[in-house]
Order: sequence, then C-alpha cells, then structure tokens
Amino acid sequence: MQHYLDVDDLTTDELTDVLDRAATIKSLGGENLLGGQTLGMVFEKPSTRTRVSFETGMTQLGGHAVFLGPDDIHLGHGEPVRDTSRALSRYVDVLMARVFDHADVEELAEYADVPVVNGLTDDAHPCQTLADLLTIREEFGDFDEVRVAWVGDGNNVCQSFALGAAMTGLDLTVATPEGYGVDESVLERADSVGDAPETTHDPDAAIADADVVYTDVWVSMGQEDERSEKLEAFDGFQITPDVLGDRTLMHCLPAHRGEEVTDAAIESENAIVWDQAENRLHAQKGLLAWLAAQS
Ligand code: CP
Ligand code: NVA
Repeated sequence: MQHYLDVDDLTTDELTDVLDRAATIKSLGGENLLGGQTLGMVFEKPSTRTRVSFETGMTQLGGHAVFLGPDDIHLGHGEPVRDTSRALSRYVDVLMARVFDHADVEELAEYADVPVVNGLTDDAHPCQTLADLLTIREEFGDFDEVRVAWVGDGNNVCQSFALGAAMTGLDLTVATPEGYGVDESVLERADSVGDAPETTHDPDAAIADADVVYTDVWVSMGQEDERSEKLEAFDGFQITPDVLGDRTLMHCLPAHRGEEVTDAAIESENAIVWDQAENRLHAQKGLLAWLAAQS
C-alpha cells in the first residue's frame, strides 16, 4: 500500500509526477477525478489550511471528506490506534491524519488497507512541502539555482522541506539556534535522496546568499510549555523587512507575528505566503489523484 507519511515515501520521479498532476489540475480542473470516493480526516490538533484544503479539494474532485476531530472518535484513548485504522479502512478510500506522535501515523499506516497521508505530526509536514515546492516552481520556473535559507526552528515543516529540497535539488541552508536543528536522522535521509542541507547557527550568513527566506513559528502546536525558553533561544532569528531585503519570504502559516516574523515583513510584497496557502489545495489534489492512480 502506498502511503505518504513523509516526502521520501516518494521517489524523485513520483514527487515530480505529483507536482505535475497538481499543476495540471490547477490549470485545467479535475472534475469527478475522485467521484464517489471518501477521505477520512483525523485531527488531534487544530488546523485551518490543512482541513479546509483537503475537504474542498475532495469536493472539487467529485468526492467527499469526513472530519474526525479529537472529540469525535476513539483514536488512541477509547481504542488502540490500530483498531481505528482497521475500522476506518473499511469505510474510506484514503485516510489523512494530523496527530502529535509520528509513531501514531506510522501505526495507522501499518494497519490501514487504504493510503494514509500525514497531515502533520510533531516530526513532519509533507503536504506542506508539496505546496512549497509547487510555489517555488511557479515563482522561479524550476528548482535549480534557487537558494533557500530556512531561518528558525528545525521543526516538522523544516524537516519535510529538507527532504523535498534534497530530492528536487534546491540549495537549502538551515539556520537554527543550537539545540533546535533538524534531527540527525532526517539529515541522513536527506543525504540518501540528494544533498542534505547545510546547517548553521548564523541566520545572517544563511540569508546573505539566499533568494528565498523561509520561516515558521518558534512555538509549534503542543510546545506551549516551552514558550518562554524558546522565545529566548530564538532571539536574533526574527525576519524583518531589513533582514529580508529584496528576497522572497515564505511561511507555512499560521504566523506568530512579532515572534518569528514581523507584521511588516509578512505584509510586504516579498511574501508569497498566500500562494503557498492556496497551493495546499492544488498540491493535495495532485497527491490524492496520484494515490488513486496507484491502486
Ligand atoms: N500550514 C498548515 O498546515 O496550516 P494549518 O495548521 O492551518 O493546517
Ligand atoms: N510548526 C508548526 C506548523 C503548523 C502548520 C506546528 O507544528 O505547529
């Protein structure tokens, strides 16, 4: 069974195929491509973009989506994850899950008879990477020669993006405070599918040669207890218009304005964050269409 738990579940050719399908559906539509199909959407954490883009994406492709919030189903508390997975597999054609523990999405996939898509875990956000790659390709025409500086936390969004960058040949430098870098295991996986990103603790050095500056929140969902310690550790990593200069700004959103990015930077003409948000819809339609074509 083909799952999408992280970007390197696809080969580079498959990733390109998903992005190409996304671009085609974006320009030509995909009416009834998934007619009669149902997507189950399990959410342990809140979401604006992921929930609405998957749900409207299914509707636009002729299918249907069922939202299953933390108080709606028994996942992990009323029954083991594997039982939820086996039962949902009997109803839905694809299962998307946003959970805290990455091991839970792996267990869902292990016991599911349908494709499982990771809608964000504490470790990875591969659907965001699809939208980011689609946006960069639209903006720059290709991935070659595009230099991206990730500035901030080496978190879930960063880790999946590092894999996507390695697979597409994007030149990525990741600047994080000490202790907040990308997991060594992710760097090794990136290295096995392309070039692992350069890593540094100096945001200015990373930004100096970049075409694109990408940042994300310093305090991710579930890390609220670490807030004061993280705000202190990330001092000097904020993206302001001065730091950004004429470079392009990316952010997966939601943004914590005044922390990782200032209001002026994200409201500036350099920000392509709304294109990224829109491309969640198109990229995921490309992924859902590709997954349907595998079975
Ligand atoms: N970028 C992203 O996944 O946003 P949501 O948390 O709103 O889904
Ligand atoms: N790193 C953020 C991404 C939200 C889409 C979080 O996990 O909260």
